[in-house]
Amino acid sequence: MCGIVGYVGSQSALDVVMAGLKRLEYRGYDSAGVAVPADGGLAAAKRAGKLVNLEKELLERPLPSGSTGIGHTRWATHGGPTDANAHPHLDNAGRVAVVHNGIIENFAALRGELAGRGHDLVSETDTEVVAHLLAEEFSAGADLAEAMRLVCRRLEGAFTLVAVHADAPDVVVGARRNSPLVVGVGEGESFLASDVAAFIAHTRSAIELGQDQVVELRRDGVTVTGFDGSPAEVRSYHVDWDASAAEKGGYDYFMLKEIAEQPKAVADTLLGRIDAAGSLTLDEVRIGAAELRELDKVVIVACGTAFHAGLIAKYAIEHWTRLPCEVELASEFRYRDPILDPRSLVVAISQSGETMDTLMALRHAREQGSKVLAICNTNGSTIPRESDAVLYTHAGPEVAVASTKAFLTQLVACYLVALYLGQVRGTKWGDEIRAVIRDLSRISGAVERVLETMEPVRALARSLAGKKTVLFLGRHVGYPVALEGALKLKELAYMHAEGFAAGELKHGPIALIEEDLPVVVVVPSPRGRSVLHDKIVSNIQEIRARGARTIVIAEEGDDAVVPYADHLIRIPVTPTLLQPLVSTVPLQVFACELATARGNEVDQPRNLAKSVTVE
Ligand code: G6P
Repeated sequence: MCGIVGYVGSQSALDVVMAGLKRLEYRGYDSAGVAVPADGGLAAAKRAGKLVNLEKELLERPLPSGSTGIGHTRWATHGGPTDANAHPHLDNAGRVAVVHNGIIENFAALRGELAGRGHDLVSETDTEVVAHLLAEEFSAGADLAEAMRLVCRRLEGAFTLVAVHADAPDVVVGARRNSPLVVGVGEGESFLASDVAAFIAHTRSAIELGQDQVVELRRDGVTVTGFDGSPAEVRSYHVDWDASAAEKGGYDYFMLKEIAEQPKAVADTLLGRIDAAGSLTLDEVRIGAAELRELDKVVIVACGTAFHAGLIAKYAIEHWTRLPCEVELASEFRYRDPILDPRSLVVAISQSGETMDTLMALRHAREQGSKVLAICNTNGSTIPRESDAVLYTHAGPEVAVASTKAFLTQLVACYLVALYLGQVRGTKWGDEIRAVIRDLSRISGAVERVLETMEPVRALARSLAGKKTVLFLGRHVGYPVALEGALKLKELAYMHAEGFAAGELKHGPIALIEEDLPVVVVVPSPRGRSVLHDKIVSNIQEIRARGARTIVIAEEGDDAVVPYADHLIRIPVTPTLLQPLVSTVPLQVFACELATARGNEVDQPRNLAKSVTVE
């Protein structure tokens, strides 16, 4: 939530910062702003709305050039998305500028205190107090880094702050508590950003910042200290994807590109995790075999799409390991006093690794003595750093707000964890594991085949653009897929969409069925547990009898559904537990196309942000 960029070097800071903001706009797009110390003063510009509004403003009223600068793209928390509430915020003398991601919980008290000392605060934000406090400390003789440390010690809540001062034009200072901030180290230039995408075009050398650290950025390097001023240990790492991975690459939207990248993302996530004998080698799971054997339950915590991956994982974990598995929305988890102990394994699933609810849930689990395994797509982010072990998904950068390829790779990672637990605990034989691995290795090709047959799905989506409601039904692992299909449609098409367990239909939702209401049904494989299949075929008949327009997603060769499908979407034959890897794909395409047909912004849906770093 909110994208932040800082730069010191020899290039035009404004150009670097604006290009960085463009890459971070997925984090929030309520307003944007920049500040550059130049000509002995501080020049700033900010505008409500998307970055393009700021670009126009800068064309009409160019800022003086400078080689130090900061920028911000906002997802509003305190105060509406207006020009006045846009970041950066300045002190009354206009000498210091600050941008912020997070929430400063004690801002009201600080605001009152500042007003009492004669400061005039002009916005409704929690952020503005920081500019005023920094100005006071700087005037009292502290340099900018020390001023930041002093101010941070007074703040409560979650925050990433980045500041510049007219009287320290060669320095950018950043601070981090809970919200993300990474450092980029270039040749004679340094960068700060909410995520590496902002500076990947300039350097792939990055430094993780820890909790409660302040970083001072200069051309020739960076200095990191704790809030108390003590030198801090930092971890450097190399970013293993390049700038092109964060480009649209010829697609109209990032989402389309990311949907198309799914076969590779799935294959990459399996890569290197299976040895020549077909066993799993999850070296990253640094939780000893003895401890894994002692477990008596698995608890999965996640939000949004990642939560749906967790719901699917439950079926695989319980079936393959016979361990009870609970799946919980991270935002609900710690508040209900969950029963956890060292024999519970908590799995935190997060694309960004920064979702505050998930982070708080894992902290709570660790306080209870449970081990936490993160499934994450973002190297160096907070959730894996604070977990006992991490299994990275290799989806590459996901920019579109609605998650697609990250979801599929989260599923793959969940299957790997389930199989690994089965392997270590002896509930799965080697040949069974090898058989699933073989099926998983073929899935990438199956996803590819689904993608090749999506034109009728797109045509169908366009024909439904005028509808108000779409329902989704599924059974077994198809139920979370139905939830995910509905979520995608809400996020992108702003339509009323709900997912139901097909068996629940007659306990209420069937009352919603009316003439020509589109209902998407995810049909389990007729092979294996055919009872599931037969029951859902009955459900399709029940809704069709009441006038629903049935959109049926079913395996190739499943003829039983044909008479009851107004629209039939075929997916390749896949083992039931793995079917979500193929059945989700048409739902992503469906939502994306419906959003386009309704004239919505696909990559930046209204009110949303990709990385939700506030609770
Ligand atoms: C936001 C995004 C969703 C995402 C959820 C969890 O709501 O819009 O697409 O699924 O956060 O994000 P995470 O980064 O933890 O997977």
